[in-house]
Amino acid sequence: MARKKRRRPAGRRAPANPNPVTPGLIGPTRRVPPEIEAPEYAVRGYPANPPTENPVKDPETLERMRLAGQAARRVLRAVAAEVAPGVTTDHLDEVAHVTSIEEGGYPSPLNYHGYPKSLCTSVNEVICHGIPDSRPLREGDIVNCDVTLFIHGVHGDLSETFLVGEVDPVSRKLVEVTRECLYLGIDAVRPGEPVRRIGQAIQAHAEANGFGVVREFVGHGIGSTFHMAPNVPHFDDPRATMILEPGMTFTIEPMITVGNWRSQLWDDGWTATTVDLSRTAQFEHTLAVLPDGVEILTLTPEEPQPFLAGHDRSVWPSTLPTRTGVSVA
Ligand code: MF3
Ligand code: CO
Ligand code: CO
Repeated sequence: MARKKRRRPAGRRAPANPNPVTPGLIGPTRRVPPEIEAPEYAVRGYPANPPTENPVKDPETLERMRLAGQAARRVLRAVAAEVAPGVTTDHLDEVAHVTSIEEGGYPSPLNYHGYPKSLCTSVNEVICHGIPDSRPLREGDIVNCDVTLFIHGVHGDLSETFLVGEVDPVSRKLVEVTRECLYLGIDAVRPGEPVRRIGQAIQAHAEANGFGVVREFVGHGIGSTFHMAPNVPHFDDPRATMILEPGMTFTIEPMITVGNWRSQLWDDGWTATTVDLSRTAQFEHTLAVLPDGVEILTLTPEEPQPFLAGHDRSVWPSTLPTRTGVSVA
């Protein structure tokens, strides 16, 4: 009996995305009340000077970063609770904007290098920096919501990828593995070891599952400065030689792809997608290196801290519930 003809040879990439995300309309600039303390770039749109901040924070700054991280987590929780089919990404931006101000903080993306909104919403093949617009979420989409809040003079930066209603199994697996990549990356943080260890752990897990790791966007040092040293690549990068020290604060924010990890930009100058329009997911936390562990700053106090000394390294924080249920784990 003749073998069934395959549509394409085994192991070759899937056909092009028949249903790409297209830009919607971007609404007017949202206002921040003057009594909210804004970061220095907020008026001009660009940081005044190249960052000179020390990557190692003093205990008082670390305490302010804890408060900022907790508040940012509450903002993301409010955004997550709105994620559902039919909801526009602009609505998610409004929720992020309003809850940031209710927390007493400034939504860090707003006017950062001219960025027009208060949140990043990256749908399906969008890797990062998607601009909230009039596009309603559709059943089967995945959407990363990336919150950064400036409060008490410092930034807290985190993101999760949410499932919109029922999502196909490959996308569910992608989101699950990406979350695992974040926590395995955090687990690799050891004072005295180079930043490179983080990307080594992430790349190994992503590729063991057949996925790719985005190279063009990296984690970053953070504090009163939004983006500063160290660069935190999510792949095994021999240039990531900075030695991790107690008091350092930075993000880990792996972007993982089903297909090609290379990126391209929309004409808006912000929205980065995969070149093959395959799906991609991202999770992010802001972290502080401690002498005997690592603290996740972007959690609220009732959530587990797996990587503090003496804690259970296998119990990770849950993803935040959406309007249609908990997305993974
Ligand atoms: N929160 C993003 C990050 O993880 C940065 C967003 S900058 C913006 O680094 F201008 F795009 F908002
Ligand atoms: Co970040
Ligand atoms: Co972020």
